[in-house]
Amino acid sequence: MIKIMEPRRLKLAILASGRGSNFDAIYAAIEKGDLSADIKILISDQEEAPALGKAVKRGIEAQYIEPRNYKNRDEYENYVVSRIKEHNVDLVVLAGYMRLVGKVFLDAYKWKVINIHPALLPAFTGLHAQQQAVDYGVRFSGCTVHMVDEGMDTGPIILQSVVPVLPEDDEESLAGRILMEEHKTYWQALQLFAEGRLFIKGRKIYITGT
Ligand code: GAR
Repeated sequence: MIKIMEPRRLKLAILASGRGSNFDAIYAAIEKGDLSADIKILISDQEEAPALGKAVKRGIEAQYIEPRNYKNRDEYENYVVSRIKEHNVDLVVLAGYMRLVGKVFLDAYKWKVINIHPALLPAFTGLHAQQQAVDYGVRFSGCTVHMVDEGMDTGPIILQSVVPVLPEDDEESLAGRILMEEHKTYWQALQLFAEGRLFIKGRKIYITGT
């Protein structure tokens, strides 16, 4: 069993492609004192991502990095990693980052890249997870906070939270219900890192003190 990290006040980098409501929720948990962390930088691969403006408004360094300006994914990720390294961060937090993370990232931050996915993994990976859940007819769905590995939404699971799927749900209504859980579950998972309570063996994560 390997201890993921010693207790500390976390330095976070956030990667976001869109709205940034998960970033907001993490920021709010820090402000409230529920999460022992500081957000050092927010990076987006989308110029128009509202998350960028939200970060600036909160006095957090924000940068748009255009993937198409780089020859390939490795070069793009090398640059992103170099920007993140300047801030000496402990964790890279994907908050609606709609891009597969590659080897460069994972080599630089093994077990330190975290994602939230709007389904109960391993069900409904990839895009439109909420629509997939509605179409499949499951009675429950939810969100999963997990470590990122080289697969798509396949990494070790840290926390999950469950919501009911109602007969009248469509993608939007289910997404809204799941999002409310995401906003509580993500910072709680990050706080487990801050408290040094996470261990990993094989693909399983163990939480001490529960
Ligand atoms: C969230 O629902 C998050 O789970 C999902 O994108 C949304 C981002 O919202 N992420 C994925 O689907 C990643 N596979 P936000 O920008 O308001 O945080």
